[in-house]
Amino acid sequence: MIKTRLLNFYLKSPLILASGILGLTASSMKRVIEFGAGAVTSKSFNKDWRTGHKNPSIVPFEHGMLNAVGLSNPGLDEMIKEIQLYKEECDTPIIASIFGRSIEEFGEVTRRTCEAEPDMIEVNISCPNVHSEFGQPFGDSCPDTAKIVQIVKEHAGNIPVAIKLGPHGPGIGVIAKVCEENGADAITAINTVGPGMLIDIDVQRPVLSNLTGGISGPAILPVAVKSVYEVYKNVKIPIIGTGGVTKPSDAIQMILAGSTAIGVGTAVYYEGIEVFRKLNEGIEKYLLEKGYKSIEQIRGAAHE
Ligand SMILES: Cc1cc2nc3c(=O)[nH]c(=O)nc-3n(C[C@H](O)[C@H](O)[C@H](O)COP(=O)(O)O)c2cc1C
Repeated sequence: MIKTRLLNFYLKSPLILASGILGLTASSMKRVIEFGAGAVTSKSFNKDWRTGHKNPSIVPFEHGMLNAVGLSNPGLDEMIKEIQLYKEECDTPIIASIFGRSIEEFGEVTRRTCEAEPDMIEVNISCPNVHSEFGQPFGDSCPDTAKIVQIVKEHAGNIPVAIKLGPHGPGIGVIAKVCEENGADAITAINTVGPGMLIDIDVQRPVLSNLTGGISGPAILPVAVKSVYEVYKNVKIPIIGTGGVTKPSDAIQMILAGSTAIGVGTAVYYEGIEVFRKLNEGIEKYLLEKGYKSIEQIRGAAHE
């Protein structure tokens, strides 16, 4: 009942592990599948490894989490090996999340990532916690977004490409349209929000070593639902609605707003890996109680 189609593959559940959480190794991603996810997304990686920002880089608060991990990753070669290993042992779809420091690097990382034959490539152009090094995210600019989508599609061959957007910039609906016009196959919405800041009142200094970080978890659910709603109005390509999903009713809101699949990240920190099973059961219960046979019957229903 909760299985769904995303482009050319079927997911046994609409839930997808969001990038940045348990996505560094084949074994942790396999574990997420065992707990009921329909697909996994790797941690974002670029050409060379990155240590990211100094600790503390993650701080939880009552309604979510602030993080400035800073795109730390072991680099392309290591991540290709992990994706290949995952594919040898697991036939549930895997999405490789990539980024680049320059438009050319996006192309090169895409070309090399194809060696691992992921089921999809997700292109992170919206990380809000690397301003100090990278400047404004590429995804805040229509011309930069267009160039990145073009170069990634040029190198991705038959592998479908999702572009991961944030709620900032000239409007997520506008940027999503630019992605679609330039050949993107799907949109992932949204990345973390902000950046934001929390201050330790005892030491009277910002908690994060980077001072600011991206906000995730329940606090951003309304921004994420609104973003998915906007994207759905503007494009025909499928949406992986991500941001703040913790309870079944959150996931259902995402579907009603127009999501084909739903990304789950921070909830794994708060609820444990079990959250996938609980969300699946809750979505199924809702469909049964309302007399629906499939997720497709309610997708985008909030627009009617
Ligand atoms: C600790 C942490 C690390 C993250 N790393 C990445 C990343 O490497 N690439 C990316 O595209 N998104 C990254 N994200 C963003 C998530 O994939 C997701 O878009 C965002 O957190 C909103 O969803 P959530 O509220 O379910 O976590 C990260 C989020 C967190 C909390």
